Amino acid sequence: MSDKDVRAFPLSEMRTHRSTKWRDFPSDVLPLPVAEMDFPVALPIRKVLIEMVEHSDLGYLGPIPEVGLAFADFAMKRWGWNVEPKQVHMVTDVGVGVVELLRLFTQPGDRVLINSPIYHNFYTWINETHVTKVDVPFTQANGSWNLDLGAVEAAYRTGIKVHLLCNPHNPLGRVYSREELLKIATLAKEHGVLVISDEIHAPLTYKEATFVPFLSLGEIAEEVGVTVTAASKGWNIAGLKCAMIITQGTAMSQRLEALPPAVHYRASLLGAFATATAFSEGTAWLDSMLVNLDANRHFLKELLATKIPAIGYQIPQCSYLAWLDVSALGLGENPTQTLLERGKVAFNAGQTFSPHTSHFVRLNFATSQEVLVEAVERILNAL
Ligand SMILES: Cc1ncc(COP(=O)(O)O)c(C=O)c1O
Repeated sequence: MSDKDVRAFPLSEMRTHRSTKWRDFPSDVLPLPVAEMDFPVALPIRKVLIEMVEHSDLGYLGPIPEVGLAFADFAMKRWGWNVEPKQVHMVTDVGVGVVELLRLFTQPGDRVLINSPIYHNFYTWINETHVTKVDVPFTQANGSWNLDLGAVEAAYRTGIKVHLLCNPHNPLGRVYSREELLKIATLAKEHGVLVISDEIHAPLTYKEATFVPFLSLGEIAEEVGVTVTAASKGWNIAGLKCAMIITQGTAMSQRLEALPPAVHYRASLLGAFATATAFSEGTAWLDSMLVNLDANRHFLKELLATKIPAIGYQIPQCSYLAWLDVSALGLGENPTQTLLERGKVAFNAGQTFSPHTSHFVRLNFATSQEVLVEAVERILNAL
């Protein structure tokens, strides 16, 4: 199998994996939570890792200019975003990056804005840093989810220190438009809000959508924004522990000098070189993966329309997470638990993304179509 024709592993192979997705449930459960992909890692990444292991090149992380250079080149080619390699700082993972930024820019009790439903660890990071969560939820109309910018502005007026943005959005699978992001940047400047943009899913944006990096929006964005991102989602290497904190202008870059030096060297050497390799040599694999994922997001739509049309599902613009409205299935207070108990199929529970979305489950479709068919059969078994 070449990187131009990536295929999902069979289930039997995946069941031998040691990651959390494959260890969290008994062997009779089909696991479809956790954002990992059931696909082989890109060949150039495997090559660099094998080379490093074979040479026992497994020490601490010093300066690795390759990461900033590779990311800047990728960001320019993919998104037309002009990144200064020296403003790409390494960090263990996106979670640690956001937590360290919150520690630097906030005091306990400061107010931090999120837009729910949102990736459940946004809540973890907020709790860990003892800041106060303020939620301006997405509003839903005719199946699509919209950010109420008027409500964001009203919240900013009440004194928000940081806006934690998820672009592209997990679990809604939606990219923000340039206009939305410009409005957020302008409001943030007016009200003295720092925008932390989590862009981890961006490499997995599908062709019909345009991902806009927050910091590509010009002077206002660079004054108010910091981006945290990684190759870990796009190239499926989360276990290697390396992410990036990125600034654009001098002023913000100087503010980040106060981050503890350990933020850098707590990332992993293997992760850093896998990351640099992903951005410099991993495009063929990424594009092949996007062909697979694109097919799967449509396959799932057809499968559900045929087998369980009562499930609401909007095809995402990005990534491999399907946000399924199962409210019509009569699965009780906790549909995820019911599906696990009766159907032996595991999803992420809607209520972990917002207390108001317990009638949703999040399904990971970065797998084979056989597994998707099996998952839908198991949902049917639970009805
Ligand atoms: C939006 C978002 N941010 C961060 C992460 C986790 O990133 P990391 O493992 O680098 O902390 C995920 C994982 O799914 C995610 O969806």
